[in-house]
Amino acid sequence: MQADWPSDAAAEVAAIVARSCLPCHTAQGDAPLDLTDSASWWRHCVTISAALEQGAMPPWPIEAGVHFRDTHELPAADRATLLRALQSAHTARTIGEKCTPAAADIKGMPPRSGSASFLVGTDWLTNPEGETRTFAVAINNPTVLLASTITLQPMEPGALASVTVLPDTSGVALRLDASDPAAGYEAMGDIGRSVSGSLGGGGIGCRSLKLPQPFAFRIPPTCALVLEAHAAPLGFAADGALTLTLEFYNSSEPVRVVQPLALGGVPPGAQDELRFEHIMTLSESVDLVAIVPRGGDSVHSMRLDAAAPSESLLILDIPRYLSHFARPYVLTEPLRLSAGTQLTATFSMLPLNLRAPDSMRSAPVLLLLVAPVPAPAIEHQATVTDESK
Ligand code: HEC
Repeated sequence: MQADWPSDAAAEVAAIVARSCLPCHTAQGDAPLDLTDSASWWRHCVTISAALEQGAMPPWPIEAGVHFRDTHELPAADRATLLRALQSAHTARTIGEKCTPAAADIKGMPPRSGSASFLVGTDWLTNPEGETRTFAVAINNPTVLLASTITLQPMEPGALASVTVLPDTSGVALRLDASDPAAGYEAMGDIGRSVSGSLGGGGIGCRSLKLPQPFAFRIPPTCALVLEAHAAPLGFAADGALTLTLEFYNSSEPVRVVQPLALGGVPPGAQDELRFEHIMTLSESVDLVAIVPRGGDSVHSMRLDAAAPSESLLILDIPRYLSHFARPYVLTEPLRLSAGTQLTATFSMLPLNLRAPDSMRSAPVLLLLVAPVPAPAIEHQATVTDESK
């Protein structure tokens, strides 16, 4: 079969597709269309062009003043190249043969030593309209564990939208899970003051939250990990099982533990508001490592801004938030936020008539994973003055 992309563009197109589409659009991927299959490009060329023209793919555009990993962004020039190639190649039959999934794809990553895996939700058949179930996984760890990567891989591609994780040492989650005869239990994952997502999570196109060195999650002794899993509204019941994998911190560098800093929640009396803010001033300097957005069903958009005396910065703006596309964002370089920095989380809400009836059960939260900045060693104290970044 003849290659139908203009030959001068074929290699470039294949590279763009591998980078920006194949993280999700493979046979085993999160998305419905297999775009490694050349026939798909041919059959769906109108839909694909429309998705590109409307900016709907790759999902979902963000704006940011910092860089995040694995955002699968499609720069304007690449978008134009794809659209041109689609137009001039009516029969795009061979593109798939030229594309191999990007190396960054976490699927099929071989288990490494220093990791532990747990199979969760094996008896869960998801609700065709989508649903949230919570699962408690006993880790039975006699000592503290430090995990640098947490991966949540659904067994059935596409069945799970997003999953967030929190630790529980109270035994409550295990009891709830055991007392509900169905798979898992029905409740928002949060337990008391501990917010789900404090141990990260995963979502479409980003099933693994890998903290950069020397950061790690701290998992307390005799812990249960609580997984709040959101099934995708597929229109049919799917196998909701997933594998939870912890990769342990294995560097000789002194570890820095990340902690959750939650911005959001609905202020009292603001249930009907269309927009609200949560402002917080940092009392100590921290490094921001990752952001876990948890918008629930009633958020339209959310953004996070930082203002220090000398400068202000848009950290992340998600202009079209969809709960089933929720995913964590890991910064390529941790961002130093000095004491006194004012953080503003802004949420704009869907109009009341478009909100799910019980949507206020899950107040929107931007969960920041931060690590306190270590005190400088004594001999350096005199020289460490630059906290401006
Ligand atoms: C982060 C994962 C991800 C990436 C990257 C991604 N997609 Fe998608 N795509 C999806 C998902 C998930 C759906 C299903 C949409 C839904 O469920 O609402 C989808 C749906 C689509 C559809 C069908 C839309 C419709 O109207 O039915 C097209 C076409 C598409 N994607 C094209 C692309 C192209 C082209 C690229 C690369 C430029 C791309 N996608 C990158 C996840 C992704």
